[in-house]
Amino acid sequence: MDKNRVLITGGSRGIGKGLCDAFLSDGYEVLATCRDASQMSSKDKNLIYESLDISNPISLEQFKSVVDDFKPSVLINNAGITKDNLFLRMSDEEWTDVLNTNLTGTFRVTKLVAKLMLKAKWGRIINISSISGIMGNAGQTNYSASKAGMDGFTRSLAKELGARNITVNSISPGFIETDMTKGLIDENLIKKIPLGRAGQVSDIASIALFLASEKANYITGQTLVVDGGLFMK
Ligand SMILES: NC(=O)c1ccc[n+]([C@@H]2O[C@H](COP(=O)([O-])OP(=O)(O)OC[C@H]3O[C@@H](n4cnc5c(N)ncnc54)[C@H](OP(=O)(O)O)[C@@H]3O)[C@@H](O)[C@H]2O)c1
Repeated sequence: MDKNRVLITGGSRGIGKGLCDAFLSDGYEVLATCRDASQMSSKDKNLIYESLDISNPISLEQFKSVVDDFKPSVLINNAGITKDNLFLRMSDEEWTDVLNTNLTGTFRVTKLVAKLMLKAKWGRIINISSISGIMGNAGQTNYSASKAGMDGFTRSLAKELGARNITVNSISPGFIETDMTKGLIDENLIKKIPLGRAGQVSDIASIALFLASEKANYITGQTLVVDGGLFMK
């Protein structure tokens, strides 16, 4: 297996776009996905976009042959959504949509890729969870549950795949400036962050590059919190 092929879900914007740029700069071939790849263009021959809706089993079935051809050595489960609401007002649909995308989508994409990694006896799986799954956040019971679920998924999968040289880790970002956090980052929040600023996509990308590299060979089953110190145990 070529060790420098990364599949990044949700590569069209925000953290995923930052991950694509960072892995390209580091010499990786990048397969990036979003729901409608016809909206995306790439001038770099090492970056290709494919359509994939991770919440839709039919879309995943269609994507299988793309994964089989590309044979990723690194998978970054980054695609995710929020549908915030106070608990008593939260609809079944808001709950199910978020769990289906963030948690079940991660499970299904990982299944496609893990089979290839098992055959190759090498791989890196990186799940982008959230500090909302660790510290909780009012209005985000659905999102927190999905992200805490991703961290649990990470630990159990790490135990299953470790013997085949496949590491599985989560990166748990705090508040990173992207479309998802538009209107959420204000002075009051910044005051609570010991490093005194919101995160940038590059803050997440550098940790993902490290976890994908041989330097992180002996790290698995971990959740790395990248939040400027907002949450401390
Ligand atoms: N920003 C933060 O502060 C923060 C903090 C903690 C964790 N996170 C996590 O980091 C990840 C990226 O967040 P972001 O801030 O970069 O969000 P974003 O700017 O809203 O981007 C979300 C990405 O996910 C893709 N996506 C959404 N639903 C999808 C689906 N059903 N199938 C395939 N792709 C889908 C979007 O692609 P299209 O819309 O183009 O399809 C887009 O590329 C998410 O998992 C998020 O929960 C973010």
